[in-house]
Amino acid sequence: MKKYNVVICGGGSTYTPDMMELLVMLQKPFPLNKVVLYDIDAERQSIVGEFGKVLFKEYYPEVEFYYTTDKKEAFEGMDFVFVQIRAGGLEQRKNDEKIPYKYGRIGQETCGAGGLSYGVRSVVQMIELIKDVREYAKDAWIINYSNPAAIVAEACKKVFPNDKKIVNICDMPTDVIGRYLPLIGKKRSEVDCIYFGLNHFGWFTAVLDKKTGEDLLPGLLEYIVEHYEELRAQAKERIRNDDDHWGIVFYNHLKMIKDFPYSLPNTYNLYYVYPKLSYSHYSLNRTRYDEVIEGREASVFGFCKNVARLGKMKGTEFDITNKISPYTEFTGEMHSETVYSDNDVHAAYLVELVLSIINNKKELALVMIENNGIVENLDPGMMLEATSIIGKEQILPLKHGTVGQFEKGLLENQYACESLLVEAILENNYQKLLQAFTENRLVGDAEVAKAMIEDFKEANGDYWPEFK
Ligand code: G6P
Ligand code: MN
Repeated sequence: MKKYNVVICGGGSTYTPDMMELLVMLQKPFPLNKVVLYDIDAERQSIVGEFGKVLFKEYYPEVEFYYTTDKKEAFEGMDFVFVQIRAGGLEQRKNDEKIPYKYGRIGQETCGAGGLSYGVRSVVQMIELIKDVREYAKDAWIINYSNPAAIVAEACKKVFPNDKKIVNICDMPTDVIGRYLPLIGKKRSEVDCIYFGLNHFGWFTAVLDKKTGEDLLPGLLEYIVEHYEELRAQAKERIRNDDDHWGIVFYNHLKMIKDFPYSLPNTYNLYYVYPKLSYSHYSLNRTRYDEVIEGREASVFGFCKNVARLGKMKGTEFDITNKISPYTEFTGEMHSETVYSDNDVHAAYLVELVLSIINNKKELALVMIENNGIVENLDPGMMLEATSIIGKEQILPLKHGTVGQFEKGLLENQYACESLLVEAILENNYQKLLQAFTENRLVGDAEVAKAMIEDFKEANGDYWPEFK
């Protein structure tokens, strides 16, 4: 049986420990020969990497594991390259989120002006990274979930048009549907989801029962509308305090479903469709960045350091024997709810995709792919996030017919903004950069766009290419 080589780019990410645990759990369906972490930030990566050493030594000793900042050591001979880089690190996330607030605009890492600033950094670094990978691993699958994925996907299409093994994906739709299906007594493994949109701006339009073919979405939406007050009360209950970001997001999401109850939207649509509500969620002094620093950053790095200090997990409070034992013998159907509860969904949906690739299972998954007629009444060049058949050599999107005017209008505006941004970066073109910022619904004013661009330029320093 073939054993695979995997590298995780962005080895120092707080998502990497979960990702590695998941690889340990899946040793039967996804057998590995080598796991490597790669990062340009050696210090961050070493904290996660030292945890990885203990993890693999104890639970998966036959795997060769190391972490490196050297490209050749990282990429040579790889079958899968998982990319979760954050260009500019959290320091720049801070600027992306806070600068817009200075202008009374929403500051968000992937939507609005902040997303455009992040896009500039990310596109530059992703292009370089993909070129490096291709130098050492011509045939590897490059699976990217670095943000802003819509913009990164658009850049990949333009810069690497013939490379069919670069796949951009996102966990958010999986997370959304996974949370609502229990309302109608279903699990993700029992349904096929039909979805379209740009990344972080899309809609489920059908949820098909795998056995009967019945579309369960109308019933689900009806249920949500009928039980709206009750569900809102429950969602409110789950907001532990006023800085629980995802609690508030899903509380507001119910409102969006009730107002447009014919499809199931991505949570990120809230920023565009309810900008005032989304704006009120944060302030200049406190954005999601602050919560992440106090929360996930502190806890994940603390955990990694503790494990490394002990030098072992088995027999300690960090033992994961019970967590992994159900999976070590597991070879069959794999769907994220099985690993969902303990492991971040961020990693689980990715593994589903990989399993469908290596076993040529032709399962349906959401990936970013060039429209080319998937949605007839949208620009053929748009990089849609859409339901596709995932096989060993090919990814084939399902046709989606036409979409309504409301969605079409929103997407065309957003796509104009995103593709202008990518052109601006590739051509070092200031005019297009200004157009991109002005076009964005969450900016919407050339004076504000100009001022923000100046602020972003200064804050981004060397990350900011020259725009002439
Ligand atoms: C979801 C999105 C990701 C995004 C993440 C941010 O998972 O799909 O694209 O990076 O949320 O979460 P955070 O907790 O860092 O705000
Ligand atoms: Mn995402």
